[in-house]
Amino acid sequence: MLNALKTIQEQAAQSLAAVSDPKLLEELRVRYLGKKGELTAILKQMGSLSAEERPKVGQLANEVRTAIEQLIDQKAAEIKLAVQQKKLESEHLDVTMPGKAMPLGKAHPLTKVLDEVKEIFLGMGFSIAEGPEVELDYYNFEALNIPKNHPARDTQDTFYISDNVVLRTQTSPVQVRTMEKQKPPIRIIAPGRVYRSDAVDATHSPLFHQIEGLVVDKDVTMADLKGTLEMFVKRLYGEESVVRFRPHHFPFTEPSAELDVQCFSCHGEGCRLCKGEGWIEVLGCGMVHPNVLSICGIDPEEYSGFAFGIGLERIVMRRYNIDDLRLFYENDVRFLDQF
Ligand code: DAH
Repeated sequence: MLNALKTIQEQAAQSLAAVSDPKLLEELRVRYLGKKGELTAILKQMGSLSAEERPKVGQLANEVRTAIEQLIDQKAAEIKLAVQQKKLESEHLDVTMPGKAMPLGKAHPLTKVLDEVKEIFLGMGFSIAEGPEVELDYYNFEALNIPKNHPARDTQDTFYISDNVVLRTQTSPVQVRTMEKQKPPIRIIAPGRVYRSDAVDATHSPLFHQIEGLVVDKDVTMADLKGTLEMFVKRLYGEESVVRFRPHHFPFTEPSAELDVQCFSCHGEGCRLCKGEGWIEVLGCGMVHPNVLSICGIDPEEYSGFAFGIGLERIVMRRYNIDDLRLFYENDVRFLDQF
């Protein structure tokens, strides 16, 4: 019996050494120490032993049980540690690893400068108006004091949808639409796309953008026009900018003018940037023609106003020294990435 006990201990030690799975370990525990286990089976036979042998066998049996229990506890601790280790390894997070780069898009240069322009005028109390790009001849021309056969129509190569419907050649029709539905005081800008049947080259495109402006109220004068637009140019191009108003003609304003800013490069001397002019044209403007006010249902005896039209592409080209307008529409990321 003593030998049998020793054998059990040896076998247990051997099989436990090879175990790495908690389930198997439990099976072994049952096999050696359980109620129907091998050790119990031997202890059950103790009754048949002599009084001399019994304590010896009893003592050894206890030693063997303790030894096996110790081995199992030790193994259980080992397995627990291994499981924990594995879990830690699988959940391991390297906080020093570089992140995945998320390429960020950028605002188009036209959008960027338009946002600036909006910001400047919003700061002066203007709000933003919109109008349709497919426009009635009436709003694009007629109501702006440009009747059929007026020579001004020739300067705007118009896309006609039908006799009465055009792609708007300017944002000025938004002036009319605004005055029709809103009583003075009016102070709006209307940015948007306009269309002209021009061949594409470095300075022409059949689609481009304008920003219309309109102020109508009592006692609005040319001084308000000059002050507002000079302020705009200084905000956009810097306080040191020098402007001049040059007489011009538009059918829907009287008097009319164009605003030039002194060339930033040569300060009026004439250079390559300003094509020898010394001045760079920025926008067209004028006092709203009384005919236009009347057509829109506003009494020109009571109210007066000024209007202006800015070519967005032109001011963006100047801002970033871009010499070819086509770059704006080609969506070449190498170009767009620079802004
Ligand atoms: N609509 C004009 C154009 O496309 C620009 C313009 C000039 C707009 C003078 C105005 C203005 O409102 O007062 O050439």
